[in-house]
Amino acid sequence: MSYNLLKGKRGIIFGALNDQSIAWKVAERAVEEGATITLSNTPMAIRMGEVNALAEKLNCQVIPADATSVEELTEVFKNSVEILGGKIDFVLHSIGMSPNVRKKRTYDDLDYGMLDKTLDISAVSFHKMIQSAKKLDAIAENGSIVALSYVAAQRTFYGYNDMADAKALLESIARSFGYIYGRERSVRVNTISQSPTFTTAGSGVKGMDKLFDFSNRMSPLGNASADECADYCIVMFSDFTRKVTMQNLYHDGGFSSVGMSLRAMATYEKGLDEYMDEDGNIIYG
Ligand SMILES: NC(=O)c1ccc[n+]([C@@H]2O[C@H](COP(=O)([O-])OP(=O)(O)OC[C@H]3O[C@@H](n4cnc5c(N)ncnc54)[C@H](O)[C@@H]3O)[C@@H](O)[C@H]2O)c1
Repeated sequence: MSYNLLKGKRGIIFGALNDQSIAWKVAERAVEEGATITLSNTPMAIRMGEVNALAEKLNCQVIPADATSVEELTEVFKNSVEILGGKIDFVLHSIGMSPNVRKKRTYDDLDYGMLDKTLDISAVSFHKMIQSAKKLDAIAENGSIVALSYVAAQRTFYGYNDMADAKALLESIARSFGYIYGRERSVRVNTISQSPTFTTAGSGVKGMDKLFDFSNRMSPLGNASADECADYCIVMFSDFTRKVTMQNLYHDGGFSSVGMSLRAMATYEKGLDEYMDEDGNIIYG
């Protein structure tokens, strides 16, 4: 159902790889809400993924760019302004990758060259994106820039590895740049902290299925899906959130505020039973 929330707005969506990608859902919803958009991803992702099919479906163009390259990002903004016929109203940064996670290097055995890549791709790219756009004055007054984050930026989650550090940096960049861009151009910058979601990037996290189940049981509203995340992004791009900036916004069914839920407690107790003797002594912790 469309509410025309983005009627007449122009946007750039970074990070749609396949129809599971959060960015894919956001692109579809943005067009449904009346926006015109361009898509961007790495040349490799464009070749290996399905972004061209999405572009065809949404009648929009794909501009290749590695988000660690300032030159390529600058081209994305220049071309998008030209193609869409004016300044950009909203941008989605939906990009994340950790070579350490991919190569199964644990947090106490990180490869530092790979850590540099994790931080560059997953966090510094957000700074590069905003700085490139600002230098070109490519974002319209009251524009909205959103990046996707995860609660591992605040609290430790087994298996999330160096992506936790990348997300902490990503959220900090949203605050630091949000201050400058807000003051000078009324452009808002926020991060949305999303529930675990089964996507290509999400499935790379160690123990993802258990993490998904745990957070689903802990959240009073259950995990937020990729489609629901897209809805939230649309609201953040719309004129209804013009005074929201420099925030990390939890979109997680309440997970981040819960200490222990009834559903999680019941599962925990059931699990413990299996490890207790008849007197209730725990055999295995
Ligand atoms: N899936 C989850 O559980 C979850 C939860 C919270 C936040 N997020 C975040 O959501 C965002 C989108 O991830 P997703 O889950 O939709 O997975 P996804 O794998 O569909 O998307 C990740 C995207 O990053 C792109 N990318 C990787 N390296 C790049 C580079 N150098 N330059 C440009 N693009 C590059 C990939 O091509 C891909 O399109 C990420 O920031 C991720 O950390 C995901």
